[in-house]
Amino acid sequence: MEPQIIATTPFEGQRPGTSGLRKKVRVFQQPHYLENFVQAILDTRPELVGGTLVVGGDGRYYNREAVQTILRMAAANGVARVLVGRGGLLSTPAASCIVRKHHAEGAIVLSASHNPGGPDADFGIKFNAANGGPAPESMTSAIHARTQEIERYLTLDSTAVDLDRIATLTLGATCIEVIDPVADYAELMASLFDFDAIAGLFASGGFRMRFDAMHAITGPYALEILENRLGAEAGTVLNAEALPDFGGGHPDPNLTHAAALVAMTRGADGLDFAAASDGDGDRNMILGRDCFVTPSDSLAILAANAHLTPGYRQGIRGVARSMPTSQAADRVAEALGVEHFETPTGWKFFGNLLDAGRITLCGEESFGTGSDHLREKDGLWAVLFWLNLLAARRQSVAEIVTEHWRRFGRDYYTRHDYEGVASEGAEGLMAALREQLPTLPGQQLGARRVAQADDFAYTDPIDGGRAEHQGIRIRFEDGARIVYRLSGTGTEGATLRVYIERFEPDPTGHQLDPQEALGELIATAREFAGIEPRTGRAAPDVIT
Ligand code: G6P
Ligand code: ZN
Repeated sequence: MEPQIIATTPFEGQRPGTSGLRKKVRVFQQPHYLENFVQAILDTRPELVGGTLVVGGDGRYYNREAVQTILRMAAANGVARVLVGRGGLLSTPAASCIVRKHHAEGAIVLSASHNPGGPDADFGIKFNAANGGPAPESMTSAIHARTQEIERYLTLDSTAVDLDRIATLTLGATCIEVIDPVADYAELMASLFDFDAIAGLFASGGFRMRFDAMHAITGPYALEILENRLGAEAGTVLNAEALPDFGGGHPDPNLTHAAALVAMTRGADGLDFAAASDGDGDRNMILGRDCFVTPSDSLAILAANAHLTPGYRQGIRGVARSMPTSQAADRVAEALGVEHFETPTGWKFFGNLLDAGRITLCGEESFGTGSDHLREKDGLWAVLFWLNLLAARRQSVAEIVTEHWRRFGRDYYTRHDYEGVASEGAEGLMAALREQLPTLPGQQLGARRVAQADDFAYTDPIDGGRAEHQGIRIRFEDGARIVYRLSGTGTEGATLRVYIERFEPDPTGHQLDPQEALGELIATAREFAGIEPRTGRAAPDVIT
């Protein structure tokens, strides 16, 4: 079958954001739009020619069509072998796992993560490199540059590949392997965690759990691992069927979007453990009875308890967190005598530290936690890690959390999001903050005096790469912080995120509601940045 050469012209705005190129479905449906981006990947990653590519997505609307387009283009461009998940499905962490296990040259993952799906909602595409991790800046810039000069793409005039049966097929000269999307991932999880102990917990009869797959990609993964392999009762996985529009919901596991699950953990009859994951399966939310574990605390708790699981029995080498994530994990690293790192927002910044063996665990306040087992954050991994801890410690989630605070102190933490704000307002706010930075140290803001203030910049300790303007960071003399940054993942207007934290060493002060415990700092953050005058918003849209 001869490749067809199709003439095309560049589209504006094919620059990947925090996690790939995300646009409305209708944008992707324009003739040549997806093709241009895919060809830019293939043109800038010559190792794919003659190599192995992993392809799959979170099943959202347009996933199937996009997979077919990518398969035809991969074949036309001389990719030797493509591993594609059955049904065109792969969670983001499973894609990373498969790249590593099968020594692929990279993966094309179709997802807009936690953004809603459907014909009027969002679609996305990202490239993961041979280490299984999100493409670093150098690669995404090269891809973007290529999209700006593209003149042709290669495809095949072929019928659709049957994605619904596990089989090895050929398309042109390319070998297409339709694989079980869950098997490799489930095997990796079984090698890291004590499945017998977790199965024992479920078999004990005294432990009730629900996992909310939010009608997204983790449904099939959670059914196989939790119900089939670990013996959790049927019905443990809620909203298990992956739907193209995620059932009309917003597949983002947080207190707002998973409110029904949160309600199931409340009161004396509340579940012992509940968890949820997002559209593409890389995020996690952890809940116990009447207890929400912030992602920042979760990272710290996993780090402090890692030695209780088979996969991390030998201890951890170091921990990294994104800058706006609370400082709780730093305290654990210091107690363990291991390194800790503060990186910009975006999972890709952990890649070099993981590859170099400097860190074992990493996490972000945005409900992402992971380790060196692969190169993405991993929702179900975090859930299984917690299940292993619950089985090993024979304590409730709340007891584990409270004991952790008693030992290390509590980092009260909250994030306030102002979504869909006019870009000029949001950028004006950030620019005004930036201007005030030089004079801030020593100034009194609300009840505290500023110790340091900067626009966060990061130099990668492994390759020296530099990332600037990663968020305004105000640190007070008592260690409390206010951080402002604009989201890099939205598709409409700007989203302003304000992150607020303070440390409380005294256990008698550990049981407050974070909004109350941080009330003064929250008010200071709002007033100092002039959020209402600049954005017209009196209150945040989402509080986590
Ligand atoms: C994605 C990325 C994360 C990042 C998050 C928040 O989930 O994979 O690494 O932390 O987006 O990004 P944002 O720019 O919206 O705060
Ligand atoms: Zn995601």
